[in-house]
Amino acid sequence: MSRRIYIETYGCQMNVADSELMLGRFRSAGYERAELPGEADVILLNTCAIREHAEQRIYGRLGELSRYKVRRPGVVLGVAGCMAQHLKGRLLERVPLVDIVVGPDAYRDLPLLIDQAREEPVLATRLSRDETYADLAPARADGVRAWISIMRGCDKFCAFCIVPYVRGRERSLPVGDVIKQVEHAAAEGFKEVVLLGQTVNAYRDGDVDFAELLRRADRVHGIERIRFTSPHPADMTDRAVEAIATCAKVCPHVHLPLQSGSDAVLDRMRRTYTIAHYETLVAKLRAAIPGLSLTTDIIVGFPGETEADFEATRAAMLRTRYDAAFVFKYSPRPGARSAEWPETVDEAEKTRRISLLIEEQKQTSLEINDAAIGGEVEVLVEGPARRDPKQWFGKTLQFKTAVFPHRDENVGDTLRMRVAEVSPYTLFGDGVPAAIRTAEDVTV
Ligand code: 5AD
Ligand code: SF4
Repeated sequence: MSRRIYIETYGCQMNVADSELMLGRFRSAGYERAELPGEADVILLNTCAIREHAEQRIYGRLGELSRYKVRRPGVVLGVAGCMAQHLKGRLLERVPLVDIVVGPDAYRDLPLLIDQAREEPVLATRLSRDETYADLAPARADGVRAWISIMRGCDKFCAFCIVPYVRGRERSLPVGDVIKQVEHAAAEGFKEVVLLGQTVNAYRDGDVDFAELLRRADRVHGIERIRFTSPHPADMTDRAVEAIATCAKVCPHVHLPLQSGSDAVLDRMRRTYTIAHYETLVAKLRAAIPGLSLTTDIIVGFPGETEADFEATRAAMLRTRYDAAFVFKYSPRPGARSAEWPETVDEAEKTRRISLLIEEQKQTSLEINDAAIGGEVEVLVEGPARRDPKQWFGKTLQFKTAVFPHRDENVGDTLRMRVAEVSPYTLFGDGVPAAIRTAEDVTV
């Protein structure tokens, strides 16, 4: 009987893509996929280390999963991803039931490492300067959207961030391999691709920059939508803005992390841009791309963030009027530069600051969505909504969730939905018949 692998994914979309890559490796080694940990011979957690909370969750989950090992001692329990790379051998010491700790650059030989882990604990956390897995085929989950990593690692070393230490140096996949993956996704029936990288717009392969890559991806037949995440404001060239604006399939949505609205804090964060530069970029994007949806990441409570700094962030957020903002409390990450700096904002004050931003952003999101009522949006159908299966959902071009009464639409169809009601995060259709383009219609 073949062996069975179960993977649970935490953190960002890069990890989702990496889990599919790992599943591809296991598939080539003859494994089948298990849907539940209790049915698996190998249980892997693909982890995140961006904030301390992420690591706490994993410890809890490892505690729960260890019962499968106690019940069946042959089961291999492993930790992959950023937390594995961050803690290395300390993870084996702290959770002795873990058999293998494997970092983001050691997935190529994973089935082999698992065999070794059946004999003795394995630590595979060497980072690589050139591993991109460009030649490996991921086992993608069914759906309308395929995640494609186009670069790995990060060279920015923002003071708060652990990513450069756990994912290593920035490296791009060869353009030919990226385009092959886009073509392959189209052949598998995916309608949308999301190009991924920690600083995705820093992509470069020889003369091919991110703008040129978008143009080449835009020509791939069968793909209807192209997204990318996350760009860094300092790497967003005029060429890239123009490519986003002119490529027909590239969606009008940019996730542009702000982090702070105070130049003093941005400088200490080593973000390499000023608020003026950021806002000029936003103005350029908005002028070039009609209907652009903008989302962002913000950190509150960075060491030394004064009340005035925070107010500058708040004002910047309100000026830009984002469609959505993800706001985080600063979390010191051992290894990152700012972890050595004293924390000056206490937990209660971080809570006050984050709550205020979340509340004000919710209001802005609602106002922006309110303005969509009565109009039509184009929705790529994904399937039944979680709460009520009579309702289906999909994403708009702006990456907003749209929920509508299901009639005979299929997954992968594109529908024009009239917006009847909204919440800050969702658009609701009223079920008035609208034009449908079925998944089989070849329109691109
Ligand atoms: N503390 C809080 N938030 C962080 N982020 C990255 N590192 C930290 C940290 N140490 C946030 C940033 C980034 C997002 C993915 O996570 O806002 O853009
Ligand atoms: Fe972290 Fe900064 Fe790199 Fe983003 S750009 S992954 S925040 S170091």
